[in-house]
Amino acid sequence: MSTEMSRKPRRSMASGEDTASTQELLCHGDLSTFPASYSGDCALQDVPLKSSSRGKFTNPYHLPSKEPSVPRLAAENTLTEGPNKPPAVVQVSLSWKRAAQDRIKQAISLTKKYVRNPAMLKEKATQAMHMGKEWYQYTPAAMLDVRYYYFIVTAFNLLLLYTLWSWNLLLVALSWAAFRVGFPAVLQLKKTMPNFRSLGEWAVITGATDGIGKSYAKQMAKCGMGVVLVSRNQERLDSVAEEIQRLAGSSTKVRIIAIDFTHDIELETVKSQLDDLEIGVLINNVGLGYPNSDGTFLDVNGLEFHRKMVRCNVDSMLLMCSAVLPQMQERKKGLVINMGSMTSETQTAFASVYASTKAFVEAFSFCLAQEFAGTGVRITCTKPGFVQTKMIKNLGLSESFMTPSPDTYVESHLKTIATIPIASGYWFHDLAELVLIIETCLFCSDYMITGATDGIGKSYAKEMAKSGLGVVLISRNQERLDNVADEIRALAGPTAKIRTIAMDFTDDIALETVKSQLDGLEIGVLINNVGMSYPKRGGRFLKSGNDLDFHRKIIRCNVDSMVLMSTAVLPQMQDRRK
Ligand SMILES: NC(=O)c1ccc[n+]([C@@H]2O[C@H](COP(=O)([O-])OP(=O)(O)OC[C@H]3O[C@@H](n4cnc5c(N)ncnc54)[C@H](OP(=O)(O)O)[C@@H]3O)[C@@H](O)[C@H]2O)c1
Repeated sequence: MSTEMSRKPRRSMASGEDTASTQELLCHGDLSTFPASYSGDCALQDVPLKSSSRGKFTNPYHLPSKEPSVPRLAAENTLTEGPNKPPAVVQVSLSWKRAAQDRIKQAISLTKKYVRNPAMLKEKATQAMHMGKEWYQYTPAAMLDVRYYYFIVTAFNLLLLYTLWSWNLLLVALSWAAFRVGFPAVLQLKKTMPNFRSLGEWAVITGATDGIGKSYAKQMAKCGMGVVLVSRNQERLDSVAEEIQRLAGSSTKVRIIAIDFTHDIELETVKSQLDDLEIGVLINNVGLGYPNSDGTFLDVNGLEFHRKMVRCNVDSMLLMCSAVLPQMQERKKGLVINMGSMTSETQTAFASVYASTKAFVEAFSFCLAQEFAGTGVRITCTKPGFVQTKMIKNLGLSESFMTPSPDTYVESHLKTIATIPIASGYWFHDLAELVLIIETCLFCSDYMITGATDGIGKSYAKEMAKSGLGVVLISRNQERLDNVADEIRALAGPTAKIRTIAMDFTDDIALETVKSQLDGLEIGVLINNVGMSYPKRGGRFLKSGNDLDFHRKIIRCNVDSMVLMSTAVLPQMQDRRK
């Protein structure tokens, strides 16, 4: 894979299509120490499609991924099948079929692997059984007594697979709609809420003074739970506390915690205020959007704002989970609701950092749900579309069935919470998700490049230097940087231009520090490659050693480094228009 990746750019440069040889490559990463287990995706910013003399589009950096995504397959079909290509809908259908067939092949080979390894098979089966049992147990508590829920789900899945196999897009759409929209919609007709009180005495809600968070707090109080309201403004917290007691009765227990999540908050600050409570439900709702409708990465917002957004949308969730999960695990029951967003599902330009934080929330919830399978603690993520709150007031949308009020949204989400652990929680948003997926298939561009091997940062640097680019190597250890620089010189010749910068991305680095080091360089390629993982196999969330500080380092290294470097380098690329 890495050989293939490195060859393609060289070919295009040799043909004179690119002037990159006079430009600088900026490559940062722990250059020689990727753990052997590292296998994450490395997403490069795609280079714009070029129009050659024959009028055909070529992309010099088009690197084939091992597993083409569905949109990518559609794009490939669109680009390659010539004048007699089938209509778009059929192409998408064909792509879905190919993707489904690939998935089925994968499933078969996985099954074979499991059959050969009974211990692994047992572990997976137990995990799946626990997850299924927990969600099933939860379902009949107060909602429809859907005894056959899992049979229904299985039947729909089989139908979906069949329709994918037979590449009939209409059937795919119908079965998706029935499964993802129809079934939860039926549940919304129920009058009663699940029995959240059975999980514990208290519900903790972050971002509880307004919008969706306030509605969750009201619903939890109506279910008979004490509520802990967490938000930044003491006055508004007091007024919401009064409103809740008026609504749910003066005996409703309310506790207030005033915290601004855009700051780095000590775990003890939160724990000390929660440790005496029996917490049944934790709702990580707080979220920071853009102050106006423009979330352009460079022009409006700036690094400091984006760092605040990451702290408020991501770090708050890690902080609250670190504070509350240990007691839930001990009591063997509890529910965590993490607030994602439909923006993570779509390619949301002009909201890049916001959408990415929500993708983090979704991925984190999904992994944690598996990690806690069998412990009695359920982790879920909800991904709404537009809900009528002050967060979207700049968009000028009025309340409608498409943009429900926070109360309508929350009621719908809580009633359907047991159906699909990660869903949008509201029937119209589920439908919108389906339309978005189909739209992405129809109108997608080829936007993703993936691939990663051990020591990939170092390989990039070597290959780019061999192509005649000057390279800037960034890593935390000066000695190792010098060694890699020598290695590159031995490979690319003594005249190779190499600059090294020793920087530890787990620290909070000021933008100016980076900018000043890059001054005067014309940067043609930025490879945001740095990434850190767990020191040994064992990334369990509550494992000792994997504490909040460690998780914060991971976020700074894997997320903040990318926002930092992009903020430093993109303006000059934008100026030079390449
Ligand atoms: N509205 C939508 O269309 C939509 C769609 C998808 C996902 N979401 C997600 O849903 C969640 C709630 O959104 P919303 O629309 O209800 O937002 P909202 O109306 O703006 O309410 C946000 C709440 O969070 C609090 N808050 C904001 N920044 C804070 C900080 N730094 N520290 C502590 N508390 C803070 C606010 O308190 P103050 O009183 O101090 O401002 C308020 O209580 C967010 O995670 C959002 O990303 C919303």
